[in-house]
Amino acid sequence: MSKINIKIEGISYEVEAGMTILEAAKACGYEIPSLCAFNHGECSKGSCRVCLVEATGARGLVAACVYPVAEGMEITISSPKATSARRTSVELLLSNHNKNCQQCDKNGKCELLHVAKITGARDDMYVGEQTPTTFDQISPSIVRDTSKCILCGRCVERCKNAHGLGILGFEKRGFNTIVAPAEDRSFAKSPCILCGQCVSVCPTGALMEASEIDRVDEAMKAGKYVVVQTAPAVRAALGEEFDMPIGTLVTGKMVSALKRLGFKKVFDTNFGADLTIMEEASELLDRIENNGKLPMITSCSPGWVNYAEYQYGDLLPHLSSCKSPHQMFGAILKSYYCEKNGIDPKDMFVVSIMPCTAKKFEKERPELSVNGLADVDAVLTTRELAKLIKRSGINFVKLPDSEFDTDIVGEYTGAGVIFGTTGGVMEAALRTAAYKLTGEELAKVELNEVRGFAGIKEASYTLAGKEIKVAVAHGMRNAKVLLDQIRAGNSPYHFIEIMGCPGGCIAGGGQPYVKPCFLPNEDADILDTFREKRAKALYSEDASKALRASHKNPQIIALYENYLEKPNSHKAHELLHTTYQTREKYTK
Ligand code: SF4
Ligand code: SF4
Ligand code: SF4
Ligand code: FES
Repeated sequence: MSKINIKIEGISYEVEAGMTILEAAKACGYEIPSLCAFNHGECSKGSCRVCLVEATGARGLVAACVYPVAEGMEITISSPKATSARRTSVELLLSNHNKNCQQCDKNGKCELLHVAKITGARDDMYVGEQTPTTFDQISPSIVRDTSKCILCGRCVERCKNAHGLGILGFEKRGFNTIVAPAEDRSFAKSPCILCGQCVSVCPTGALMEASEIDRVDEAMKAGKYVVVQTAPAVRAALGEEFDMPIGTLVTGKMVSALKRLGFKKVFDTNFGADLTIMEEASELLDRIENNGKLPMITSCSPGWVNYAEYQYGDLLPHLSSCKSPHQMFGAILKSYYCEKNGIDPKDMFVVSIMPCTAKKFEKERPELSVNGLADVDAVLTTRELAKLIKRSGINFVKLPDSEFDTDIVGEYTGAGVIFGTTGGVMEAALRTAAYKLTGEELAKVELNEVRGFAGIKEASYTLAGKEIKVAVAHGMRNAKVLLDQIRAGNSPYHFIEIMGCPGGCIAGGGQPYVKPCFLPNEDADILDTFREKRAKALYSEDASKALRASHKNPQIIALYENYLEKPNSHKAHELLHTTYQTREKYTK
C-alpha cells in the first residue's frame, strides 16, 4: 500500500493511501466519534453524521467514515464548527429515541450514550414527533425494539456478511423507516437462525437477547433444585465483562461466582461434550461401515440446525442425530443423576450458561425433552451471567478459584474444552474415532489442519487403512459452499463440522461485546484478533489436561457401564438423540 502525507490537528503524519479519514485518525491515535461505521468498513453508510470533521479540499464538513484521505489533506477534528455539528447529529438521534436508559439493558455498553457523553449532546434539545415503533419479543432468543434503533445498518451488514442471509433490512420509507425482517415480521416468523450476530454489533438496546434472568430467580425462590452448567466458550470471555484482558481464562472464578449465586451444583457442559463425541464418533463409524448417509454433519450448533431446517431441508438426513452437549447433559441430569441422588426430576431446574442466543430457542424445542420434561429449563448468555454477578455485588476479580462439581457426572477431558472454537468438535471427534478404528491413541492429539479461522478447512486422515476426509466451516456463508457441493452430489467428505457463528462459539451472539470504544487498552485491531485470543485460552486449557480424548473420561465410561450400556444403544437414543424438520421460510 502506498503512503501519503496528511495533517491531523496541525500535526504531520504518513498514512496509507485509500484509508478513510476515520481509519487514518484512529491509526494516528485520535478518536473521532462514530456510530454507523464499524469494523474496517464492514458497515460504512455515512448515515449517522456523528463523525463530521473539516478537511481541506472538501466542500463543508465531511463524514470521516466514508471520506478518503488525500495527499496534503489537513484534517481538523476540534474546530467549533465540527464539534457543534457532531453534537447536533447526536442530539437529532436522541430526539427520535426512547430514552429510558435506566430500564435499558444496554446501559453501560451503549455506544449512543458514549457518543452523547463525548460530544456533550443534550437529550432534550429537539422535541417532536417520534417514528412509530415495533417491539418484537415473540422469539425466545432475541428482542427487537425499534424505539432504540438509530438506523445505523450494522445488523443488516453483519447478517449478510456472516451468513449471506440478509434477514434484516430497512423497511418502510422516510420518517417511518425501521430495521426489521421483511414485512416487519417477528424474528420468530422469518428464516432468521437466531444466532445473535446482529445483536453483538448493535450499538444500542435495539437488539438484545431475550433475558431469562427472572425465570432463574423465580425457580430459586420456588425452592427448585437449581443446577447450572457452563459451555466452554464462556470461561474464555466472561472476564472481559470485568475489564480483564481478552483471552483471560476465568474458569475457577466463574465457578466460585455461580456457587455464590446459589446454584445447588455447578457442572461443566464439557462432560456433555465428551458424551456427544462418544455418540457422534460411533454414529460416524456406523455410517461409514454400513453405507449410511455421508457426509455426516455435526449438529451441536442450533444456529446451524435452524439454517439447515429453513434452507437445506433436503440435506437433513446428513445431520448427526446427536443432541447438542448441553441438551445431552440436561437429559442425563434429569435421568441418571436424579435417579442416583433420589431427586424427583420434576423438582430439578437446569440452567445452561451459553455463548449463544440460538440455544434459548433450542431448549424450547419439544423434541428436546424426555418424558415431557425439557432437558434444559433456562439458557443465560455469557452477558446475562455477567449481569447477574454484577447485580449481586460479587467482586468477580477478587474471587478465589473453585472447582466444578464432579460427584458422579461433570468430569471432562481436553476434547470437551475445544468444542468452543471452530474445528474443535472435529478435532475432538477424530481423537476418539481414531481410537475406535485403530484401537490405538493418536500419537499427536493436536490436529492443526482443522485449527484456525480460515472460512473452510479441509483435511484427510488415514485410519486403519481407511481414508477419512473432513471439512470444517463456520458462518453460513462458508457452510453454503459445502452444502451446495453435497446437493450437487460431488462432496468428497465423510464428516463435516459446521458452526453457526463465524469463529464458532467463542464469538457467539451471546458473548461479551467487543467494541473498541469501550476497550481503550486493547489493540487497535481487536476486532481482527479477539477470536484468536479467546480460542487460544481454550487450546491452553486442553493442553493442560491429563486426559485429552473423550473416550478416556472415567465418568463417561461409568455412565455407559452403569446406565446407557454403549454408544448409540436404545437408551442412549432415547435420551441423547433427536430429529429435525423442514421449516417454512416464512410463517404467517
Ligand atoms: S439504547 Fe442507550 S441511549 Fe437508548 S435507552 Fe438504551 S442505554 Fe439509553
Ligand atoms: S440473528 Fe443471525 S440470522 Fe437472525 S438477523 Fe441476526 S445475524 Fe441474521
Ligand atoms: S437494530 Fe441496532 S444495529 Fe440495527 S440498525 Fe438499529 S441500531 Fe443499528
Ligand atoms: S460514523 Fe460516520 S456517518 Fe456514522
